[in-house]
Formats: sequence, C-alpha cells, structure tokens
Amino acid sequence: MAKKIKTIPEAELQSYYEDAAKYLLKPWQTRALPNIEPLIIGGKGAYFFDATGKKYLDFVSQLFNVNLGMGNREVIEAVKKQVEQVNYTKNTFLNIPKILLAKRLAEVTKGDLVKAFLSNSGTEAVEAAFKIARIYTGRFKVISFWGAYHGSTFASMSAGGIASNRNPYEPLVPGFFHIPLPYCYRCPFGVEHPSCEIRCAKFLEYTIKQQGPETVAAFIADPVVVAAGAIIPPDEYFPMIREICNKYDVLMILDEVIAGFGRTGKLFAYENWNTVPDLLTLAKGISNACVPLGATVMSSKIGDFFSEKKIFAHGFTYSGHALACAAGLAAINAYIENKIPEHVEKIGKYLLDALEGIKDRHKSVGDIRGLGLIEGIEFVKDKATKEPLMSKDPNAPIEERPMVVLSDGCMEEGLLIMSAFSGSNIRMAPPLIINEDDVDKAMEILERQIDKVEKRFL
Ligand SMILES: Cc1ncc(COP(=O)(O)O)c(C=O)c1O
Repeated sequence: MAKKIKTIPEAELQSYYEDAAKYLLKPWQTRALPNIEPLIIGGKGAYFFDATGKKYLDFVSQLFNVNLGMGNREVIEAVKKQVEQVNYTKNTFLNIPKILLAKRLAEVTKGDLVKAFLSNSGTEAVEAAFKIARIYTGRFKVISFWGAYHGSTFASMSAGGIASNRNPYEPLVPGFFHIPLPYCYRCPFGVEHPSCEIRCAKFLEYTIKQQGPETVAAFIADPVVVAAGAIIPPDEYFPMIREICNKYDVLMILDEVIAGFGRTGKLFAYENWNTVPDLLTLAKGISNACVPLGATVMSSKIGDFFSEKKIFAHGFTYSGHALACAAGLAAINAYIENKIPEHVEKIGKYLLDALEGIKDRHKSVGDIRGLGLIEGIEFVKDKATKEPLMSKDPNAPIEERPMVVLSDGCMEEGLLIMSAFSGSNIRMAPPLIINEDDVDKAMEILERQIDKVEKRFL
C-alpha cells in the first residue's frame, strides 16, 4: 500500500465499540456488540484494514458489491467530479448522469432490455419490478424460490424464501408463492440430473396452472441463489423457465443484484444460458458500492406500455441521484474496459479448481459450487449420507455453530468469507479483480480453518 494507514489508539477504539453498542441497531444483528466485527479505516483492491492496522483479504467483496475492489479510482474520480457540478435534482427533473446511465444500461444489457427505472438498492429494484409486473400484466401473484433472498422490505421479503427472515414479520404480503430450488446436491424431488428431466423447472408450470395463469404476474429468480449457498441450476433450467413464462404470459424477472456486472464470468448472468428476462434487477456492484444505486431494466414491450400509459405511480426521493448515476456509469465502463468478465471466467476456474482440491482432501466438504466468482461450499458430517455439519445442540449460541466458527476463524487469520442464511454452507464472492496469489492465500487460510472445524465437530 502506498499510504501508511493511521491506526486508532486502543482507548479510543474501545470507546467507539462502546458507543456502537449503545447507539447503533445493527442490520441483521445476530449477536451482541461489541464482537469480533472490525472497525474499518481503509482498503485497497481486495484488501481492507481495521483500526488496529490488521489487514484482511476480502472474499465477499464486503457484501457482494465492492466488485472492483476498495478505493477504485475510476468510480471515485467520477463521483468527485459530479459532486462539484450537480449532486442532486428532484426525482422527476432530469440530470445528465441519470439519462446517460439509463442509455448505457440499455446498451450493455444488449437485446431487448431497453428502459430503466432507477432507485437506491436491490430491495428497491425488486419492489419496482413487482409493481411494474402487476401494472403491466393486470395480475398480482409472484412466484419465487424457497431459500432465495430478494430484499428486506415486506414485498421483497415475501418473495424471499428464508424462514428466519420471514417468520418474525408474518403475516407477510399476500400473493407470493414459492417453488423448490434447482438444488441438485439435495434435490427437493429426490431425483438425479439429467434423468430428472429438470423436474424443478417443470414444477413452475405446475404451480402456475394450480394458481391459475390469469392471476400470475411474474416469476422471480436469483440466477445463482447466493443466499442458499450459491445454488447453480442445471444448464437446461433457465431456457425451460423462459419457455414456461412465455407459454402463460408470465413475466420472467431475473434478480441480478449479486450476479450482474461480471460476477459470473459474463457481464450479466443470463448470458450464461442465452435467456433474456423481461425484467432485470440490478444493484450492488452497479456502482461498486461507492454510492447506493439500484436499477430495474425492462424489455421493450413493457417500456412501450409505460410510454403509452404515461403513468407510473412509484418512485423515491433519490431515484436517479446524480452521484449514484455518475458512480454507476464509471463502474459499468470499468467492468467493460478492464475486461472484468473475461478475467472472472479465468480466475473463477482457478478458484473452483482449488476448492475441488480442498473437497478431495477433506471429509467434511460435501459439495463445491461455483460460477465465475460466486462460490459455495457445503459441509457435511458424512459424504455418503450428506448429513449437514450442524451443531449437535440446535439451540447452541451462534458463535458455536460450525459455519460461524469457520468464518470467525478465517476472520481471525485475516480472511473474510460468509456463512449462508441456512444449512451448512459457506459463500465466497471475492472482488472481481483478484489474482492467483490472492486465491492461494485465501485457500491456505480456509484449509487450515476447515481442519480446525473438523477436529472440533466431526
Ligand atoms: C439477489 C438479491 N436481491 C436483492 C437484494 C437486496 O439488495 P439490497 O440489500 O441492496 O436492498 C440482495 C441483497 O443481498 C440480493 O442478494
């Protein structure tokens, strides 16, 4: 690192932790503050630094969003330039970055995705997609995956399928229904690919028919279901889903809040299956997380509908915020000009190979999944029975659960990875700019910590 970071003295740091515990309600709080979560004071590329000067290798891109790495100059300079010109305009007024961003999204999504609604987050991008789908189709039901995450407001959480998120807030929004994940390692239908004939995709058709096609507005899917431990559908899945949606005039929404912008080795994940959705939701990496930004990009038939209808009763104070749009434009250009998807395809294979090696050497590693730089590792007590590696006591404190012990252990050694919402899965999504040395370093720490977890829990 060029600049030496200035650490925070112990007493001052302690007082920050005390104030955080007293004044902050943490998002997704699962354990009391203060805990091992670091106070971050800097970062560069795939590394970040805490207040004590400790350096961490980031294998989650903070929260699946700092995809170009920390301190990316292209995005920072664009935001600095814009802040001196116009940083905010009323949402219905125009500003130049918002027009250019919408046009750029239409260009880079290629094909038939032509018009964008801009917002501030993935949740907002998804909410907008649901409202657009309801108005466009005149139908109200939405079908999605059990196990997926689509955001934390009521509608996006109702589409999400994670019991621990949903249960505290029930009853949720009516009209949301779920189908099982395309989860080959633990097939919900108990069958095997390819003789299964992709029963999980056919189950969408069954569900649409049972609900009554005239009531179903949309199906929404995260192309790689990161929340559930990076579940990657078989190749036939999305083309079949596209056909089913076409057959019943149900809109297909792909939620690429994580998967978009090069993460899967293509600029957009749908390119992996030559399948274009009707609505595409984007956020996170769209602005390299420098300023919050979300986008809901729609096909020409939906865009034309709104051009004719002229009314869309939805929006946020910060829809099309000039700084966010400037960050978005710069980040999108950086992904393309630096050939990030091409790099991800190569380095993703290198990471996947390394993980396969770990799987071969470890009794507890049951499955490895990966596409580009989204990876999932599923841990088991026994590879034959596939019994998940969980605590014996289901009420064990969170810090004593195997996946948390593993991720805490990695953090202690300076590697950020993340356990999945449920099951015995670890997720990894490093910045898209990592190199082979970063992968080797991460795998060394990971393997050492897996050894420790096996000694303790197997
Ligand atoms: C697939 C997907 N959709 C939507 C969201 C919600 O995004 P945000 O947290 O920016 O609201 C997330 C967040 O992780 C996500 O992974």
